[in-house]
Amino acid sequence: MFIPRIFLACTAAAVLAGICGCARNTAGGDAMKPVSFGKTADGTEVFLYTLKNRAGMEAKITNYGGLVVSLRVADRNGKLDDVVLGYDSLAGYLKETPYFGALIGRYGNRIRNGKFTLEGKEFVLAANNGPNHLHGGLKGFDKVVWTAEQVAAKDGPSLVLTYVSKDGDEGYPGTLTVKAVYTVTEANELTVEFTATTDKPTIVNLTHHSYFNLAGDNQDSTILNHVVMIDADRFTPTDSTLIPTGELKDVSGTPMDFRTPTAIGARINADDVQLKRAGGYDHNWVLNNTGKGMRLIARVTEPTTGRILEVLSAEPGLQFYTGNFLDGTIKGKYGRTYVHRYALCLEPQHFPDSPNQPAFPPVVLRPGTTYTNRIVYAFSAK
Ligand code: GLA
Repeated sequence: MFIPRIFLACTAAAVLAGICGCARNTAGGDAMKPVSFGKTADGTEVFLYTLKNRAGMEAKITNYGGLVVSLRVADRNGKLDDVVLGYDSLAGYLKETPYFGALIGRYGNRIRNGKFTLEGKEFVLAANNGPNHLHGGLKGFDKVVWTAEQVAAKDGPSLVLTYVSKDGDEGYPGTLTVKAVYTVTEANELTVEFTATTDKPTIVNLTHHSYFNLAGDNQDSTILNHVVMIDADRFTPTDSTLIPTGELKDVSGTPMDFRTPTAIGARINADDVQLKRAGGYDHNWVLNNTGKGMRLIARVTEPTTGRILEVLSAEPGLQFYTGNFLDGTIKGKYGRTYVHRYALCLEPQHFPDSPNQPAFPPVVLRPGTTYTNRIVYAFSAK
C-alpha cells in the first residue's frame, strides 16, 4: 500500500515554530540543520542555526550579526518559553533594531565624541549616539554577516562565528580577526566566548546584547518585577550623554546598590540624578573580584515563573540596561509590543569610554596577544 509522506520544508518559520526535524549530535544535544533566514540588503543569504541540549533548552541564532533570535528555557514547571526579545524574520532586524540579541563590537558601549588617541595618533569614529560613538558605529558587528560553523563541542552544541574586520573598518585601526562561539551547554547555559587578534595596536570591547524578559509567555508587561543582584560595590556615574564622568562611586545608600537582591521597580523612579539622566538603569557597574577569573557577577529572578538567570564573566564591568529606550513603537515576535522597560540587558564588558579614561582598565589590544571575553548566561528555576 502506498503511504503518502508529508515532508515539512525547513523554513525559518517552521524552525521558529519548532516543527522541523533535527539530528542528534555527538554531544547529546540536537544540532538542527541551518535554514535560510533570508537575504541582507546586498543579497547575501543568511541562516538560522538551532542549538538544543538534552533538557530541551534551545537557542536560535543567525549568522547575521550573530543575533540570538530566540532562547527557550524552562520555568519552575519545566515549561519552555522564549525569554529574549527580537523579530520573527530578518526583515525586522534589517529595518530597525536596538541591538536585539546582538554581538557587539568593535567597541561595546560609548566613546566620548567618537574620538580616541592611541600611540599619539587620533582616530575618529562615527558619532551614532548623540555626540558619541556607540556599539561599534554605523555598521558594527551586529550588522555584518559572520562565517558560521556548527560543531558538537564538549559542553554541548556550538556555533562558531568568525569575522575579519578590515584595517580602518568604522574608523578603527588594525585588521581584527574575531571569533565568537555560542554554546548551549548541558548545564542549561548559553555561553558566548570571544577571542580576537589584531595586526596593529587597536582597542577592543566585545559583548553580547540580548534583551531578556524571563516571564516568557507570561510577558504581559515590563521587567519591573524582576529581582536583580549585581556583585558590585561601585558604579561609574555618567554625564547627560551617558559618558562616565571618571568617578567610581560607592553604591551604598543609592538606587544603584544591588548587592542585596532588589526588584528593578523598587527604586527605578527614585529622585536620583543618575536614574533621571538615563531614564532608568543604563549604567556600568564596577564589579567586585576583578582579576580573579570567571565569577558570578549578576543574578536575575522572575517571581511568577521562578526563572533565574545568572551571569558569569571575568570582565571588570557590567552594563545593566532596563530597556528605557523601548517606547512601544516596536512590534516584535508573537505580535508583542515592546513597551518601555519591557526587557533588560546584562552586558559584561570593559567600562564605557575607556580609551579616553586612563584610570579605567585598559582596552588596547596589540599584535601577538589575544583578547578574550567569556560570558555565561546560566538558567535555572525554583
Ligand atoms: C546599551 C546602552 C543603552 C542603549 C542600548 C541600545 O545598553 O547602554 O544606552 O543604547 O545599548 O539601545
